[in-house]
Amino acid sequence: MNILGISAHYHDSAAALVVDGAPVCAVQEERLSRQKGDAAFPLLAIESCLQQAGMEPDELDAVVFYERPMLKFDRVLTCTLRAFPQSWRAFPKAMKNLLGEKVWMRGIISSHLGVPGRKVLFTEHHQAHAATAFLTAPTRRAAIMTADAVGEWATLSVGDGERLSNGSTKIRRFREIRFPHSLGMLYSTFTAYLGFKVNEDEYKVMGLAAYGKPRLVEDVRRLVRHTPDGAFVLDLNYFEFHSTAERSYSSRFVELFGPPRSPYEPIDFNTAEGQRFADCAASVQRVLEDTMVELAQSLHHETGLTDLCLGGGVALNGVANARLLEESGFERIFVPPAPGDAGCAIGAALYCDRIHFGNPDRDIPDHPFWGPSVDGSELARLAREDGHSAAVCEEGALIDQVADDLAAGRIVGWMEGALEFGPRALGHRSILAAPHTSEMRDRLNREIKYREPFRPFAPVVPIEAAGCYFDIPPGGARLARFMSAVFPVRREWRAQLQAITHVDGTARLQVLEPTMAPRLHALLEAYGRRTGIPVLLNTSFNLAGEPIVNRAVEGYSTFLRCKIDVLVAEGTRVMKRTSGMERTRVNMIKEEVA
Ligand SMILES: [Fe+2]
Repeated sequence: MNILGISAHYHDSAAALVVDGAPVCAVQEERLSRQKGDAAFPLLAIESCLQQAGMEPDELDAVVFYERPMLKFDRVLTCTLRAFPQSWRAFPKAMKNLLGEKVWMRGIISSHLGVPGRKVLFTEHHQAHAATAFLTAPTRRAAIMTADAVGEWATLSVGDGERLSNGSTKIRRFREIRFPHSLGMLYSTFTAYLGFKVNEDEYKVMGLAAYGKPRLVEDVRRLVRHTPDGAFVLDLNYFEFHSTAERSYSSRFVELFGPPRSPYEPIDFNTAEGQRFADCAASVQRVLEDTMVELAQSLHHETGLTDLCLGGGVALNGVANARLLEESGFERIFVPPAPGDAGCAIGAALYCDRIHFGNPDRDIPDHPFWGPSVDGSELARLAREDGHSAAVCEEGALIDQVADDLAAGRIVGWMEGALEFGPRALGHRSILAAPHTSEMRDRLNREIKYREPFRPFAPVVPIEAAGCYFDIPPGGARLARFMSAVFPVRREWRAQLQAITHVDGTARLQVLEPTMAPRLHALLEAYGRRTGIPVLLNTSFNLAGEPIVNRAVEGYSTFLRCKIDVLVAEGTRVMKRTSGMERTRVNMIKEEVA
């Protein structure tokens, strides 16, 4: 059975194709259209999925959209009317937005793909999140918790899932918390208040939190109050997101926390103002973690299960996830590589396959590499046309050469195989570098990523060596498989891992098993043989404001526009011409590693 899942029209659209119960392709529209966070109907992603499977649209048995448009329409209409007359400005905008495309989804999908309307199905948004989390995880029975900003009405749900021995699958929802009471909206409100982009920059708030003290926790708790049934409500006097699209926080919020940060002002931690913003971030982070931990503890108590599957955008918060592992009572926590809305494309298709059609259960390969493959010969051709020398090497020689590059302090753009699905580069579209010095961190920030200096870089480490360099609790390696948790760097290694150690001594690491990305694993080992430390800095292969690269041509164009020294795509290696200055820098780094 061929089922296409679609997530679209909010942010980060995506498509996924499930054939006979397992994904064959999943890709975000932004990676193909090259518009970061592209929310458009994902025509390119759909085309890419069908092309990869060699399939025509009329061979699809079903096309599933990741939410129920009429339910969402009901929510927007109800909330807008409830907030009248304050909402009168927002009303036409909300209606235009919804009536323009979202409500008529069946017709839009049907006409874009030429499939009959009866083949177009819908899942609820949090059903899709739950299915992404549970059905892609290597567990047969687990509690499920999903949390995001909002879908139709639900903003958080708890339940469980079971893959039965007769091949059938059950996903149950026990309870849900409904809009406007939303942990995602609480966090996004602070994201906006701190001058960052909502739905995109939430992770910057988490990075900023490490610089602050949670001294405003009691103030944040005024905004989110516990209810006797173990849930929470937001005090709507502090928010405006439910009544207007213009601003998410109210003047009462500003009275409590002070003036908001201008997005154009850099944050200076040496000023009281800069410290206040960091303290705000630390405080909302703490309240988010505490609330998630309490909800998970009671879910653990209720289900008595050992496994928890987490879904929704809130599951991208690696600090909260590490605390859940430590304190919730669950022994194993699974977070998919794409827990956010893009990931719902896979979840919607799998939910439809297992629950709607009742097709038999299947194990899903435990990796994030569902996108288009990179072509090394394309890179060789592009580089040669430009007069760069491009070497095509066999595997062992390439690994040795790139390990030499990294040990010599060169920054490497690394492309191999299929593109990652989800927001993180997990070894197929990565910028790799030596993780040892703060100079390397500053160089990457200044010359390649052009981003705020307070944001840390992430490391990747082979599973065999992870415990030596990082303090990983039981179950932590699983959570770090897709970079879903933040754990401490061992104190004795922090001086030699400066570029990936955050100000609070932690790192958002990826623990790599050889079977998931064998070439990167071999590269880590080869780098370890040269430097004694098999750890590399691994950051997504993109420039600020651009989506992660997909094809060789995008990698090559990025390589030309920034100071990446070496570019690798499959077996092809291209190096920039070296200057005298670069040779001096390489010698300096060689000395520091020694
Ligand atoms: Fe969502």
